[in-house]
Amino acid sequence: MMRLGVLISGRGSNLQALIEACAEPGFPAEIALVVSNRGEAPGLARATAAKLARTVIPLGDRREFAAAADAALRGAGVDLVCLAGFMRILDVDFVEAWRDRMVNIHPSLLPAFRGLHAQRQALAAGVRFAGCTVHFVRSEIDTGPIIAQGVVPVRPDDDEDTLSARILAVEHRLYPLAVRLIAEGRVRVVGNRTVVEGWQPADFACLGPSPDFLVTTPL
Ligand code: GRF
Repeated sequence: MMRLGVLISGRGSNLQALIEACAEPGFPAEIALVVSNRGEAPGLARATAAKLARTVIPLGDRREFAAAADAALRGAGVDLVCLAGFMRILDVDFVEAWRDRMVNIHPSLLPAFRGLHAQRQALAAGVRFAGCTVHFVRSEIDTGPIIAQGVVPVRPDDDEDTLSARILAVEHRLYPLAVRLIAEGRVRVVGNRTVVEGWQPADFACLGPSPDFLVTTPL
């Protein structure tokens, strides 16, 4: 079993998706620790409800936060750190220490629309498709080898809320999928890309009612 450490700052709906995936029989990962930098993060209640170990590290200083988080994650025997709506910029040394063992989910088809308000950026750019990306973390924000992406259409009447909700539904399926691939040992980092073992063209799959979204990774 791969042991996950999930870092949150807020709502925690992606944490919830991981909790539910880990509860499925045969899922190759378990959540060893939930870390929040905010004591009032609603996601903490989800950790409590699932009887998970949780800790709050509210430190404002980037290096102090990194040192405390690193100690907590190592103490819990974490193999893979999952950033799930974690809203702090991480210390460069922390990112290096967890290189290829830390992933993030971002609500755009990277490398487009890095940073805050990715869905708003997508609408402003007039793109016809949007989506989300799970990637290994590098020190430059929202960069790093892409593991999996999910795609949704942008509709003419979309606003930030409707587009965000459509993307979020895909996030909740994509994050567990990416974690499973990693936990199964199928993801290899090659330069700034990843190679997924056993990928077949037929693995491009339409999920959801109608071709509501595509997940461009093996299922
Ligand atoms: C998600 O849209 C995620 O892609 C982004 O922050 C949001 C977190 O939502 N990084 P939640 O806290 O998981 O509900």
